[in-house]
Amino acid sequence: MVDSSQYARFISFEGTEGAGKSSLIVALADYLRARGEAVTVTREPGGTPLAESIRALLLSAGAQEAITPQTELLLMFAARAQHVAQVILPALERGDWVLCDRFTDSSLAYQGAGRGVDAVFIQQLIAQVPIVPNLTFWLDLPVELGMQRAQKRSHLDRFEQEKTEFFERVRQQYARLAKQYSDRIKPVDATQTPEQVLSQVLDYINL
Ligand code: TYD
Repeated sequence: MVDSSQYARFISFEGTEGAGKSSLIVALADYLRARGEAVTVTREPGGTPLAESIRALLLSAGAQEAITPQTELLLMFAARAQHVAQVILPALERGDWVLCDRFTDSSLAYQGAGRGVDAVFIQQLIAQVPIVPNLTFWLDLPVELGMQRAQKRSHLDRFEQEKTEFFERVRQQYARLAKQYSDRIKPVDATQTPEQVLSQVLDYINL
């Protein structure tokens, strides 16, 4: 395990569809850069050319063959292994802040609670990931509201086409994780305005 306390902050952002993670990350990166901080913004699955290719496989709604939950999980972790080694660890070593759109909690929420993959197996894979976020913001909002927001986008990917029940399970899992890891995972009410969300996040970051 890499000792992340010697670095600047590694922050992940979690939530169900349409929670506003991307806009928050852009706003926070702008804020930090305006203060002279170096910031790496990245996302999962993805963040490197190989991991982005895996992302395309995972999100493609027109896949000829149904992806099994185990395959989905292992592809997420294949992309993650590449991303951590090629992007996250080098950025932290440079002293950058790393703002990561989704990380390991997404696997527990989507593949674990959503798809029903054994949580012990997922935790074993997580134990092989050499870094844990210093902070995780869980942008929480009612599933229906998030789905309405996501549907305004041009087309729905393979996950976004799931039913409400799937996202309810994902949301409940985030709530459990936020209780279990309350030192790390901070819930944020994503029904607030973008300005209110950013201000709440800045309070936690303590800048
Ligand atoms: P993302 O681009 O964050 O989608 P959105 O903008 O809809 O929030 O992530 C793509 C999808 O990948 C998202 O539906 C959740 C899923 N995902 C998992 O199922 N497991 C994982 O470990 C990760 C990182 C993402």
